[in-house]
Amino acid sequence: MFEFMRRLLSGYLFVPQSFNMKNYTELFPIIKKKLELHHGSHRLLHTLGVVDVAEQLAKIYNVDCEKAKIAALLHDATKHDDLLEQERNIKRYFGEDMLISWPKQLYHGFSAEIYAHEELGIDDSEILLAIRNHSVGRPDMSLLEKIIYVADYLEPTREFNSEKTRKIACQNIDRAVAIIAKSSLKYVSDKGYEIVPLSRQTLAYYEKYLEDNE
Ligand SMILES: [Fe+2]
Ligand SMILES: [Fe+2]
Repeated sequence: MFEFMRRLLSGYLFVPQSFNMKNYTELFPIIKKKLELHHGSHRLLHTLGVVDVAEQLAKIYNVDCEKAKIAALLHDATKHDDLLEQERNIKRYFGEDMLISWPKQLYHGFSAEIYAHEELGIDDSEILLAIRNHSVGRPDMSLLEKIIYVADYLEPTREFNSEKTRKIACQNIDRAVAIIAKSSLKYVSDKGYEIVPLSRQTLAYYEKYLEDNE
């Protein structure tokens, strides 16, 4: 029961990083092997791009670089794992109602958090939340969450990569979040994909940072 409550409250309580937690150098070969084995070189290249951008942003915003690199390294670790297994794990870990209104392609934020916590021993709540919320964000994100959300969108191999937004991300991360939230929502809508309520809430919270022409 305690563990379940901790997960529910983890967005609001600080859980300190464990002294036994693996560092980036120890995690890297594990994730490299998993991504290459199951997801091919593309997923690894994307992940390394996110690590790179996240590290740059962490330096700019005085965020712990090690945490940023770990969250970036793990954010898509379960992206192409079996969906039924992801669903089972999410229901077990977060409760039966967690997946209401979530399309299958977004399960991986939750399942990667579970993988990070249960398989790799990551118990830092900021890292776990940054992994969980990397796809659609949420209102009032921590700096680390914003860094991973932005880095996932702006890393060099992504089709959305934009030099202008990259510069904005280095100057005003909230404005970059707003631009990305708006652009992502338009992309999903144009494609006719299911829109997750949380993605609208993210944009509603951050759109005050947009300028008139954005
Ligand atoms: Fe992802
Ligand atoms: Fe990603």
